[in-house]
Amino acid sequence: MLLSEIEILIIYYLLLFIYGFTMCGIIGIATTLTALGANLGTVLYCCLKNLEYRGYDSVGFAVITPDGRLVVRKCRGKIDDVREKLGFDRYCGVVGIGHTRWATHGPPTDVNAHPHTDCNMGIAVVHNGIIENYLELREELIERGHRFISETDTEVIPHLVEEFKRRGLPTYDAFKKAVSILRGTFAIAMIDVDEPDKIFFARYTSPLVIGFGKGTMFVSSDIPAFLEYTNRVLVLRDLEVGYVTSSSVVVEGISQSEDLDPVPPPSRVVEFRPRIRVVEWSLEAAKKGGYPHFMLKEIHEQPYAIFSTISGLGPEIDGVVELIRRADHVFIIGAGTSYHASLTGSYLLHELAGVFSQAIIASEAQWYLSKVSDRDVVIAVSQSGETIDTLVAVRVAKRCGAKVVAVSNVIDSAIPRESDIQVYTRAGPEIGVAATKTFTTQLVVFTYLALRLGKVLGTLPEDNYRDLLSKLRKVPEVVEYVIARCEPIARKLSREVASKRSAYFLGRWLGVPISMEGALKLKEIAYIHAEAYPAGESKHGPIALVEPGFPVFFTVLGGYDEEIIGGNIEEMRARGAWTIAICPRGSRVRRLPEVVIELPRLSPYVATIPYIVPYQLIAYYTATQRGFDPDKPRNLAKTVTVM
Ligand code: F6R
Repeated sequence: MLLSEIEILIIYYLLLFIYGFTMCGIIGIATTLTALGANLGTVLYCCLKNLEYRGYDSVGFAVITPDGRLVVRKCRGKIDDVREKLGFDRYCGVVGIGHTRWATHGPPTDVNAHPHTDCNMGIAVVHNGIIENYLELREELIERGHRFISETDTEVIPHLVEEFKRRGLPTYDAFKKAVSILRGTFAIAMIDVDEPDKIFFARYTSPLVIGFGKGTMFVSSDIPAFLEYTNRVLVLRDLEVGYVTSSSVVVEGISQSEDLDPVPPPSRVVEFRPRIRVVEWSLEAAKKGGYPHFMLKEIHEQPYAIFSTISGLGPEIDGVVELIRRADHVFIIGAGTSYHASLTGSYLLHELAGVFSQAIIASEAQWYLSKVSDRDVVIAVSQSGETIDTLVAVRVAKRCGAKVVAVSNVIDSAIPRESDIQVYTRAGPEIGVAATKTFTTQLVVFTYLALRLGKVLGTLPEDNYRDLLSKLRKVPEVVEYVIARCEPIARKLSREVASKRSAYFLGRWLGVPISMEGALKLKEIAYIHAEAYPAGESKHGPIALVEPGFPVFFTVLGGYDEEIIGGNIEEMRARGAWTIAICPRGSRVRRLPEVVIELPRLSPYVATIPYIVPYQLIAYYTATQRGFDPDKPRNLAKTVTVM
């Protein structure tokens, strides 16, 4: 683990408090047959469809049928692909729960899909979050005769409730008792055939809201799930538990307890009515969490995505270190933004670990990789894990015997599946076509990999290693600051950038791939021609295009680049270019450009991550200034499966 347990917990809760938890969506509906119950399955489908942006690895639901049976239907896949197979529309009833999953632990299989049930198929549970003490609980429950069938942490919940019921508690008390001994994060909805008109719920850290409809109550991780049925909502607070029926809600606060003794935890009834709010958002706005576009939401999610990725990296990185240590050659391949992460990774491996590697654009890689051997390593970077150019190159490399490492944001997607080692970023689903949080989390992976490699190979003295690691841990905080500081600046700058036809993005050394990513963002969503190249190249040709007012952005991370880039800024100013620099606070170059965006000074190896953020914001605001939808740039798709 990269962070100490205590550090992880402190930052985790802090960030979860700020951003909420964006993975998996849950829904519960308590209704009557005359309200929505006659079409319960169809309504569950609609609600889950509205939650699809939270995850789409698997989908499932459970209903109690009018004759009192629990039916559970679930499988791997996207909701529209499995709608027929699961037969949503065939089911009616007065209570039902559903789940859409973004896998972070355990592959997205049919068995791991939610809901999960107890031994007798009387209780079904959907859950968002992570139960940290599930292994202990699972062992104890197995000793007491419970049978588990999935690899999930969630499955302990129905078995715990079953266990407490066996020991004499009624369902609600058993549920409260079970919740009180869970550790970690959770939003839970549960149904039980013994209480066929209720949905039991509980929340700790992962978000959970109740919707008050006409003759129907909803429980969900997010408002968009039920917004077409009601806009009256109650946001639950930590350690609130309760149940809904079609016409009533009970909310109680409980405390946590330690043991498996069947004594329900002390609880107090919560007067929730003053907390009910009417939400005026449209469905689309609600899915975007109040942001006008997914891209802006995802830019703002970066501190949490980076934090989750840092804390989620584990032994697989040491596996990659081992492979690289023994390799003759290392290749890093990716397309578009993932190529820029690959190139950054290549610089970092060289700088921190003295390892030479070659970054190759995925669509060009197959010819190169057709000559690799079993002594070579290929790192394939793809947020979607499905990009065909990258996949084809991976297949070529595998055929030649090379070891392949996948860096992806999507568990069990094609590239990780075909690779020898999988390293996952934990950015959550990225809906905006332009990659933002998946890029910064890819940079986290490479920074950490280079640090570990440097430590193991002895190129990085222990003190430097520790110092850089602690700087990497501070990145979520720095990115948070950079977003807040740069948003107004980007908004203002975008008014000028919006009128330009072309721009250069220049950097040196590690600043080159960050400039390339800045240029890609501007061209793909604001449709302004943008070109990036190493700043030293200007005089070899590109400076011929520069005329008064031509925008030139400089990326200065604060290392070797800072020492030598001053002259490049001067030569552009001398031709009347409009120069803008992103540089560390107090930088020696800060007086040279016309516009300077000073950011916290970090080590340049770590600065790559926050220093891309101003470019993301400038591109975003320039696109909106020009009247374009940044979430759906023309001619582009989120996953490119054609060569
Ligand atoms: C740009 C962008 C694309 C992708 C590229 C590779 O914002 O998103 O350039 O980076 O299509 O996609 P993945 O990473 O899914 O292989």
